[in-house]
Formats: sequence, structure tokens, C-alpha cells
Amino acid sequence: MSADSVRIGLLGCGTVGRAVVRMLDEHGDTIERASGHRLEIGPILVRTPGRSRPGIDPGLLTDDPARVLDDPGVGIVVEVMGGIDPTLDYLRRALESGKPVVTANKQLLSREGPRLFEMAERSGTELRFEASACAAIPVIKVLRESLLAAEIRAVTGILNGTTNYMLTEMARGGLSYEASLAAAQRRGYAEADPTEDVNGADAAAKLAILSSIAFHTRVRFDDVPFAGIDELSAEDVAHAAELGFAVKLLADARLVDGGVSASVAPMLVPLGHRLAAISGADNAVLLESGTAGEIMLVGPGAGGSETASAVVSDVLSILGTHRGSFLHNALADAGRPLLGEDQVESAYYLRLSVADRPGVLASVASIFGEEELSIRTVVQKGEGSEARLVLVLHRGSSAAFRRAVRRVALLDDVHETPVVLRVLGAGAGG
Ligand code: NAP
Ligand code: HSE
Repeated sequence: MSADSVRIGLLGCGTVGRAVVRMLDEHGDTIERASGHRLEIGPILVRTPGRSRPGIDPGLLTDDPARVLDDPGVGIVVEVMGGIDPTLDYLRRALESGKPVVTANKQLLSREGPRLFEMAERSGTELRFEASACAAIPVIKVLRESLLAAEIRAVTGILNGTTNYMLTEMARGGLSYEASLAAAQRRGYAEADPTEDVNGADAAAKLAILSSIAFHTRVRFDDVPFAGIDELSAEDVAHAAELGFAVKLLADARLVDGGVSASVAPMLVPLGHRLAAISGADNAVLLESGTAGEIMLVGPGAGGSETASAVVSDVLSILGTHRGSFLHNALADAGRPLLGEDQVESAYYLRLSVADRPGVLASVASIFGEEELSIRTVVQKGEGSEARLVLVLHRGSSAAFRRAVRRVALLDDVHETPVVLRVLGAGAGG
């Protein structure tokens, strides 16, 4: 199979644009093997082409949009510059010339989506926008493909990574409002101007996009009333926590009497609720469907590489993966070794029935020590002359753990077959 070479013209090379270039540089070979397409980068439109950008070929940078939009060699235009003006005009030019467009721009889509889709339709080309909502979470693909006929009744979620990161930091009592916003900006989560992150407009734009797809109805930015966390005080976050609630900036859209009700506001969420556990810059979308029940999608909602993942996935959706994929293309088989259970590390729980005598715990502990395994906690419960010893071990070699358990089971003071469970999250696969 020979690969098609496709040139990607980039509009913008900031947090997301740089990450797209890095992803294609670092994973270009894998993408080519798996999809049958070689993705080449350039030209790249920026405001300041003279500024040095590590990892970016300066010869590809330009401040002339025509070099991207009018170049017949550009096969797909990726827009990661943001804003409405002049972006709308650039996308119009790209679509009218028949070039497929991938955009991460929720501001533009939630206001001008219908016009843009009409242009794409007229030119018989595609406009894709997975990165415009929830960064790495493929929620748009799920709504427009997997759950197309699933009768979605409600879309509720945390759609802004910056504010969720800020609320998480504030609830921990670590950072003030200002310091947490500055940290979110440093990490590349916030918009160039973070006003729309904190005042709820960014989440409202994303909710307009998601509910348009979910309810098969055009919902625009102006249709979504919003409030943000800019008026919220750290004191209220602390009071809510004392009362058993997390404060979250929630976006909610639902069908009510056949109509669509959509809004964004900070809300108190009971600590036991699934959305209360979403922390840091993660986003979550809870979909209530008439036919498929409740589905929750969770993952990184902001950040350069996280958003680049969605951008590249859209590019590949446009090109199609029918020429490749490892399932029907031997070249795409990475041929990774398959590891046996004893070849990975894990943490373990172990319950022993032992004689309640001095020295029993010491002899068990010394076996684990000899196998270079470290004990995290021990609990002993007496039951007459018998005792239960419950140990949790730190992550370590599974092979060493099994050897240790075999040796422990042979001790005279150990009376029943030891009970062994793996501990999740403390090693490869738990
Ligand atoms: P950014 O870091 O501010 O980068 C914007 C880029 O676009 C810069 O390279 C800038 O050029 C260029 N640019 C802006 N206006 C331009 C103009 N009028 N003409 C030419 N070039 C222009 O923004 P970002 O964080 O990468 O975000 C880009 C888009 O992705 C936005 O729509 C944003 O909402 C969306 N998004 C971002 C994230 C995230 O986590 N950051 C996640 C999802 C979606 P200079 O470099 O010369 O300034
Ligand atoms: N500024 C946005 C956020 C980026 O914090 O969620 C993702 O769209």
C-alpha cells in the first residue's frame, strides 16, 4: 500500500497549533501506517511570523492568509487561531474553494455555524469541529454518529476546563481565584482572553454546539443564558463543601415539553454525584438517552496536546481510515509483545488466617522483605487463638509477589489458603 500525501494548511500556531505540528512530527509514521495517509504540515498563518517558535520550520510561517487559503497544494485547512473576525472570512474562502476545514473554534461555530455548514454543503466539502467542545473527549463524534438515533433527552456537563481547574484548586484551599486563573493560563487551558472562560460564555458556546447535535435543532450562542464563576467567592465554595456539595460550572440542556431548555451556571452538586468527582481541567458530559440509558464521557477538556488529538482525529475522519487500520492492514500492526501477568508490576491486598502468636507477623513481613516488596498497611484482627492478618503492599513485581505468597502459605502458622486481590491504580493495569 502506498500512502497518500496530504498537506495541512494551518491557521494559527499557538497552544493548539504547535501541539498539532508536534503530534504530526512525532506520530506521523504511526498515522501513515494506520490510515494510509502521510500528513504534511504547512503553510502556517500567524500574526507574527518573525517570532521564533521551537520545533516549527520558520519557512512555513506567514502572515499572508492567501498562502494557506489559495495554495492548491493545501488539501485540508485546520483553523486553530480562534475569534470571529477575520476567521469567518478565512473559513468561507477555504470552504468555497472546496477545501475541507477542521476547526476548534466554538465562538465562531456557535454563532455562525449555520452559515458555515451551508457554505460547506454548497461546495460539497466537509467542516469538522470535534475540538470545539471538550478537547480530547470525542463527544461530537459520539453524538453525531454513535448516538444519532438514541433520542437524547438531556446533555449535562462540565464543559470548561479552565474553570473546573480553578474550582478544584479553590476547593482544595490551595490557590486563590487569581492564582488559580494564572495557573490555568500557564498550562494553556484558558483562552487568549480568559474572560469567556470565567464568565460562562465559553461553556455556553460549547453547549450550543452539543445541544444542536443532540436535539437536531439549531441552538445558537445567544439562545443560551449563562453565568460564570467570576462572581463566586471562595467562601461559598468552602461553605458548600462543609454542607456536602461541590461547586461546578454546569452546562445543562434538556428537552422540556418538546422544547429545548439550555443554560450555564455555577451549581452545587452533591458530593456523591458523578459530576462532583470531575477535577482539574477534565470535562464530563452526561447524556440521557431514551434508548441507550445514561452515558457519561469524561476526559481532558483543555490543553494543547489534548485538543490536537481531536483536531488530528477530524483530519483522519475526513480522509477516512478505510485504506489502513491495523485490523485489515498488516503494515499497521505494531507487533508489540504481549506480556504475561508476571511481567508487570502491581499492588496487592492479601488476607491471611494465622495463629495469634508472637513472631507470625514478623515472619510474614520478612518474606516480603526478602522478595523486595514493601508493605503499605497491616491490620490484625484477633479471633481467639486465630487472627486475621490483612496486608496491602506497595506496587512491586507480580512475580516476586506470587513467590512471596507461595512461601507465606507454607508457614506453619498460616492456616488457610491466602486470599489475594490486586489493587487498582497502583501499577500497570492495577
Ligand atoms: P493561542 O495560543 O492564542 O493561538 C492563536 C494562534 O492564532 C497564534 O498563533 C496567533 O498568531 C494566531 N492568530 C490569532 N489571530 C490571528 C490573525 N488575525 N491572523 C493570523 N494569525 C492569528 O490560542 P489556542 O489556545 O491555541 O486556541 C486556538 C483555538 O482553539 C481557539 O479557537 C480556542 O478556543 C480553541 N481551543 C483551545 C483549547 C486550549 O486548550 N487552548 C482547547 C480547545 C479549543 P501569533 O502566534 O503570531 O500570535
Ligand atoms: N478555554 C477552554 C477551556 C479550552 O478552558 O475549556 C477548551 O475549549
